[in-house]
Amino acid sequence: MKTILVVYYSQTGQLKRILDSLLSPLSNSSDFLISHLEIKPETAFPFPWTRRQFLDVFPETVAKRPVLLKPPEIEIRKPYDLIIIAFQPWYLSPSLPVSSFLNSTFAEEILRDTNVLTLIGARNMWQEAFNWVKDKVEGYGGRLCGNIALVDRAPNLVSVVTIAYWMLTGKKDRFLGIFPKPGVSEADIGAANRFGKAIGAFLLGNKLDLLDGELKKLGAAENNPSLIRLERRGKKIFTLWSNLIIKAPNLRGLLLNLFFAELLLALAIVSPINSLQGILMKFLKRKSSD
Ligand SMILES: Cc1cc2nc3c(=O)[nH]c(=O)nc-3n(C[C@H](O)[C@H](O)[C@H](O)COP(=O)(O)O)c2cc1C
Repeated sequence: MKTILVVYYSQTGQLKRILDSLLSPLSNSSDFLISHLEIKPETAFPFPWTRRQFLDVFPETVAKRPVLLKPPEIEIRKPYDLIIIAFQPWYLSPSLPVSSFLNSTFAEEILRDTNVLTLIGARNMWQEAFNWVKDKVEGYGGRLCGNIALVDRAPNLVSVVTIAYWMLTGKKDRFLGIFPKPGVSEADIGAANRFGKAIGAFLLGNKLDLLDGELKKLGAAENNPSLIRLERRGKKIFTLWSNLIIKAPNLRGLLLNLFFAELLLALAIVSPINSLQGILMKFLKRKSSD
């Protein structure tokens, strides 16, 4: 029998539903024993968020300043054949509960010498958060054997509007009746079971070193070069703002509002320019290979 530990945090329940779908081929099989460790902050994050609460988590999330977590509610029985870490990005970093967990000595202990798979449920910008998680896992001596990222497939600026609507109202419906539904589509959530089948087969065949290639074939984490470029730029600016806001607690409210104004401006101007740049680069590449 193969043992799997699933470590997860899911605020609206979206990522938990992706996880359940992914694990469905394994959960009723006597070949696998699956334990769930839910990351629970001492003080739960609000949902829906007010605008101020949504902004207020920004500096500490980017700086990865840990919040207190509740002790695990299950007994940890190492070794596990696989640990799945399911997380979501907040402000191009792993969500604060997840980075708090990964910064703990407890995480270091359970991840050491263990095969790890990451599962992400995001709007569409998850690469920088993934890089940080990957470095942490590998720094602790874990072996990353695959990454699966499910995203909202709407165009970038459309999903900015719909995810903000969802986060600030708690409603996962069509904003104004004209926008698409926010988040990962029901079809993509349902189809996540194909990854579970592959994980099960490769675990039982003791071939986890080959799992990443198989997951890629199944479309596990599609890269979007223009979003990756945008993330890289955004990450630098976010780090500057986060440091500034943390260093000036008396000006926190004002600086958060300034950050928010700059974010909106950047989304309105930089994001379309970045997309155009991507289209131009694709066109030039095609021309040079003709
Ligand atoms: C504060 C905050 C910041 C977010 N920042 C990002 C981000 O940088 N990139 C991204 O793709 N999604 C971002 N999202 C969306 C989340 O990654 C996630 O898809 C959504 O919150 C639902 O996740 P859940 O499973 O926890 O409910 C953000 C959400 C919140 C609440």
